[in-house]
Amino acid sequence: MQDKTLLVDDITGHRRMRRNRKADWTRRLVQENRLTVDDLIWPIFIIPGEGIIEPIAAMPGVNRMTIDKAVEAAKEAADLGIPALATFPNVEMDLRDETGSQILEANNLINRATAAIKKAVPNIGVITDVALDPFTSHGHDGILRGNEIVNDETVEQIVRAAVLQADAGSDIIAPSDMMDGRIGAIRRGLDAAGHQSVGIMSYATKFASCYYGPYREAISTGGLLKGDKKSYYIDPANGTEALRDAALDVEEGADMLMVKPGLPYLDICWRMKEAFGLPVFAYQVSGEYAQIKAAEANGWIDGERAMLETLLCFKRAGCDGILTYFAVDVAKYLAAKG
Ligand code: PBG
Repeated sequence: MQDKTLLVDDITGHRRMRRNRKADWTRRLVQENRLTVDDLIWPIFIIPGEGIIEPIAAMPGVNRMTIDKAVEAAKEAADLGIPALATFPNVEMDLRDETGSQILEANNLINRATAAIKKAVPNIGVITDVALDPFTSHGHDGILRGNEIVNDETVEQIVRAAVLQADAGSDIIAPSDMMDGRIGAIRRGLDAAGHQSVGIMSYATKFASCYYGPYREAISTGGLLKGDKKSYYIDPANGTEALRDAALDVEEGADMLMVKPGLPYLDICWRMKEAFGLPVFAYQVSGEYAQIKAAEANGWIDGERAMLETLLCFKRAGCDGILTYFAVDVAKYLAAKG
């Protein structure tokens, strides 16, 4: 009779990977990547009014909040040790117009939210998205002339909006519009306004993805969007082009880079980290969150394990952190684990 153990040793030459996996203590000892609360950025949705928290159907567990409630949420996040929030406004429909002019109101919803959060919770970072889509009547990230999203005029408006966001107390400006030249223009605009210490997290590689669907429900842009965003977001087929786009943002002065969506684009995360050595963040977007929640609700996957695994995979892919709607849940989990 053949000795099976000997046969395997003949093949492996006595190298056995399973020795390091044999017990919990060995597995902990050799674990290469770890998720910590310091890796988390929590995106939140702001609505006008007071005292309101309303659910978002396609994002179970995620709410839209009025500013007073967002301040409470910011306190909770800070107490959990979450380093930063990313804020997104759901602007009143009657304030949205063709050019997104509301973004240039110093006292608009997003700037009021920033000021209130920074006043009440000064030690949490506030990252503000700057793009026209929450403010336009057509849901595009730029100014629409005929069928074209006009680049340079949009950039001018975004620079002015970024300065207003910084005036309101934003710590990091995160342009998500994918217009050409915006990073350099924002940097110059911020510096000219005395905001040298306000950083720029570039949505450097933002893909024309289906995974933003639930987000568009959250800020009520879904029904408005005319056409698609393929003339400014990157084709999901293109990795090298994404790297070239990010390289321009690095040259123009980005402090941090983002990859969006997250999980289907881990190759981009890795390539960005290798290429530039700048901090790289992945945005686990609304559709990624919704997928996990939907499968969990059907009893098809363990939602908590999926949350932990996906977030850990971002770390393995070289990310310095993750924008995730799971931020509070995972921070609580990590705190309970000790
Ligand atoms: C657009 C913007 C998008 C998201 C944040 N800012 C995409 C879009 O609506 O096209 C998506 C975030 C998510 O899906 O979680 N400036």
